[in-house]
Amino acid sequence: PAPQRYEAENAACTAGSTVDSNHTGYSGTGFVNTPNASGAYVEWTVPSDRARDARISFRYANGTTAGRPMDLAVNGSVVAANRAFDGTGAWTTWTDVTLTVPLKAGTNTVRATATTANGAPNLDRLDV
Ligand code: GCU
Repeated sequence: PAPQRYEAENAACTAGSTVDSNHTGYSGTGFVNTPNASGAYVEWTVPSDRARDARISFRYANGTTAGRPMDLAVNGSVVAANRAFDGTGAWTTWTDVTLTVPLKAGTNTVRATATTANGAPNLDRLDV
């Protein structure tokens, strides 16, 4: 299927998260800023017409010099533990973390969960 874009501002996220628009370069209407806490997450709902291995990309910005690693899970199973989301140099500089994950036919969940007290980077979208 054609690539699909799932904006973070339409995803489910940790209580206390905000949809912000104060750092330019995002797509859609903004990006998600989670609390600075371990366990902070954003979860996207991704339909698939069939079971397949899909390339997915998390678009993010991290304007700090400290990495903000996250566990990446599909349908509740971690597929990439402590995946690096390194500093991007500025909150207005966005980049992608891309990996291949197994999707099932039907509705899938794709969740990114911060593993350090710094929380998640700012998350713009998921491309599938
Ligand atoms: C700054 C920045 C936010 C970011 C936050 C953070 O406040 O403006 O967009 O989310 O740092 O450290 O997470």
